Amino acid sequence: MELIPGLAGVPAAKSKVSFVDGKKGILEYRGIKIEELVKNSNFLETSYLLIFGHLPTKKEYEKFVDDITHHRRLKFRIIDVMKNFPEKAHPMDVLQSTVSALGMFYPSKDILDEEYHYEAAVHLIAKIPTIAASWFRIRNGDEPVKPDDKLDFTTNFFYMMTEQIVEPEVARIFDKCLILHAEHTMNASTFAALVVASTLADPYTVMSSALGALSGPLHGGANEEVIKMLMEIGEPEKVRDYIENKLKNKERIMGFGHRVYKTYDPRAKILEQLLQELIKIKGETKLYKVAKEVEKVTLEHLAKKGIYPNVDFYSGIIYQMLGIPVDMFTSIFAMARISGWLAHWKEYIKENKLFRPSQVYEGEHNLPYIPLEKREKTG
Ligand SMILES: CC(C)(COP(=O)(O)OP(=O)(O)OC[C@H]1O[C@@H](n2cnc3c(N)ncnc32)[C@H](O)[C@@H]1OP(=O)(O)O)[C@@H](O)C(=O)NCCC(=O)NCCS
Repeated sequence: MELIPGLAGVPAAKSKVSFVDGKKGILEYRGIKIEELVKNSNFLETSYLLIFGHLPTKKEYEKFVDDITHHRRLKFRIIDVMKNFPEKAHPMDVLQSTVSALGMFYPSKDILDEEYHYEAAVHLIAKIPTIAASWFRIRNGDEPVKPDDKLDFTTNFFYMMTEQIVEPEVARIFDKCLILHAEHTMNASTFAALVVASTLADPYTVMSSALGALSGPLHGGANEEVIKMLMEIGEPEKVRDYIENKLKNKERIMGFGHRVYKTYDPRAKILEQLLQELIKIKGETKLYKVAKEVEKVTLEHLAKKGIYPNVDFYSGIIYQMLGIPVDMFTSIFAMARISGWLAHWKEYIKENKLFRPSQVYEGEHNLPYIPLEKREKTG
């Protein structure tokens, strides 16, 4: 059998959760274009759509939002666990470990029971922002701020970080960023989730595996790299030399290119519009001017190869303007992507098949056992 490195392009599951057309730059969640969802929906409603397969009725929506609002608190034992992590721990490591610990407090019931799926989805969507915001405070030596039931999902997230109430327009922009990151077909973290799901492990273990996969720099960490690059360049006038130098040295420009999209990533276009809206509220940022120049110069060289800005190019500038530290960007991604992972988990275990791929063995056979005192080679 032929080995396909990284299983590139090999279907791992059937799915109705989302669809990408990389040539036309189309992304749909459950058949609805993301442009439609960003315009008309919000993150919690979109999460419901992804996980349960249809837009909720008014009653279903209100119950879902209400249930999430009332499950945002963390048990004091969870907070105590987090307080014992090293201050320098990466927010994604904290998130993965804490989600894994959460599972011990909400023991597994019948893994195929729809009510249990609902309960797990509510707990995970509700508590991940609280974990992320609490770590932001704990690592700075501050007590975590309890969620406020009067505040909506995104306003409450910023409140738990800063004890401040953000402008409704700012909360709305952030909420739309979450919609854009909620799902993206089969990828490393979704696949990791499905592999663990296929063993019928509990959903907290499944999601903690997905979080581990997302934490790697080749997956969730690219927007951190974009911001670092834009800050390193510093001035729009320095862009051309910087980019052309990088390309001459065969280095990658972060935030450009995608395995699937060979045109503009539709999420990048919307994120730029959201960034422009944020600039109207918060004022100019030099990083946007640098980014526009990076886009112009990079496209001059790479558009002919089908390399365009991806989802990570503008999201980092938005998060930075919202006061989110760079090392928390991937946790924000996770806060959104939990909905996509839950949707795939629920869909996959319905017609579960334990993953058991094969391998191409390249080792030796029938070697003798050499006693320790006679072994000469090391390593
Ligand atoms: C995402 C990514 C891995 C997809 O790559 P891919 O579709 O598998 O394409 P390949 O790695 O095979 O590269 C194809 C060609 O495009 C070039 N290329 C791809 N992305 C590039 C980038 N960001 N900057 C410069 N050149 C790039 C490669 O050097 C290669 O050139 P060559 O044909 O002359 O050797 C790649 O575009 C990348 O590393 N981007 C930067 C990191 C990033 O933003 N990641 C977030 C993705 S959402």
